[in-house]
Amino acid sequence: MAGKHKETIAVGQGYDPAAHHGAAKPPIYMTSTFVYRNAQHAKAAHDDYTAGRSPDLDDGYIYARLDHPNMLMLQDRVAALDGAEACAVFNSGMAAISSTLLSLLRPGESVLHTRPIYGGTDGVLNNLFLPVHNVLPVPVENALDEVSILAAAEIAMRHGPVSVMWVETPANPTAGIADIALFAKVAGILEAKQGRRPIIVVDNTFLGPTVQNPLALGADLCMTSLTKYAGGHSDMLAGSVSGKFALVEPLRKLRTLLGTHLDPHGCWLMLRSIETMPLRAERAARNAAAVARFLAAHPKIAHVNYAGFLAEGSAAKAVFDRQCRGAGSTFAFDIKGGEPEAFRMLDALRVLRLAVSLGGTETLICHSATTTHFSVPKERREAAGVTDSTIRLSVGIEHEDDIIGDLTQALERV
Ligand SMILES: Cc1ncc(COP(=O)(O)O)c(C=O)c1O
Repeated sequence: MAGKHKETIAVGQGYDPAAHHGAAKPPIYMTSTFVYRNAQHAKAAHDDYTAGRSPDLDDGYIYARLDHPNMLMLQDRVAALDGAEACAVFNSGMAAISSTLLSLLRPGESVLHTRPIYGGTDGVLNNLFLPVHNVLPVPVENALDEVSILAAAEIAMRHGPVSVMWVETPANPTAGIADIALFAKVAGILEAKQGRRPIIVVDNTFLGPTVQNPLALGADLCMTSLTKYAGGHSDMLAGSVSGKFALVEPLRKLRTLLGTHLDPHGCWLMLRSIETMPLRAERAARNAAAVARFLAAHPKIAHVNYAGFLAEGSAAKAVFDRQCRGAGSTFAFDIKGGEPEAFRMLDALRVLRLAVSLGGTETLICHSATTTHFSVPKERREAAGVTDSTIRLSVGIEHEDDIIGDLTQALERV
């Protein structure tokens, strides 16, 4: 362990210069295959891989789709940041999501999920698992209420056993809060009813490991699109899943079959980016608080869904305070009017960039209904709080006055 604070782990965990000729920074191992010392060594390496034993730093690699040194370094660092025993990294957040679901779900089973969920996750569940594998996704109305979660579970169990609870908190893009410990409690109740405990997977993309640690709150697996805050520069895609070794190891094996591993250069870039993640996240969160305050006071804005504005005394605020060390820097707001007003504002922006994604150094903004949630049917989208007036903002690390100035002039044109 390179230290116990996130800032120190982010810089040093997973890499020891002494094991790499003293190179201060990780070399990139650009190779697809690894030469065995002899036939017996080859046999031992395959035996280790099959038994789930990771290669040593300088020994036991087979082929880069299975394992490679840069991937082990990155997995070690992300696992430490997530407070996990083990981690598997993938070539995108969606590769992590689809591989996890493929590993955990069997035909005829069901999945409980919070609402809204990321459009890609919604697509995998409703357009792949439901029609192809007869796995029923059931949304939970109120992810802060035990009765509501149990009601959804009853519907799900009529179809088949609940094998996964997919929790996205805060939600994309409404910043809705789900109570992770409550899902863990309900998992215990379901275990008594159906003879098997569902696996709780939390999508931690919106806040990332510097602000929220789902495994410490009762989740079994923590999934993160590293594309966002960890990558941090909007120039690469990656994903991770962390948790106990027994749950992560089958994922690594499935990743080998699917070929969804992250390549050496991608791992190296990600290790480099993670070093500054705590600094970037802190600055972006400060900017976001200022931008959210500006929008909340603006006469053309109907509502701001910023986790920092949760009402004192509300259930959501109590759970937020227990789960999160901050509100992050991505949130949504509703402009007064609908799509025409939203489009006029977006088209007038000069500094902010009109793009999907989040967690980059630059501020990104998009109209959720016609971009990130385009493929989610209107009825399901609106039930989840994503309307034609909803605009998502990922605040970057620029100067806050320039972000607010650009929003000010764009709103004047609405
Ligand atoms: C909450 C959330 N989960 C998962 C993903 C998917 O990650 P990726 O784009 O890296 O595949 C995204 C992407 O926007 C996301 O916002």
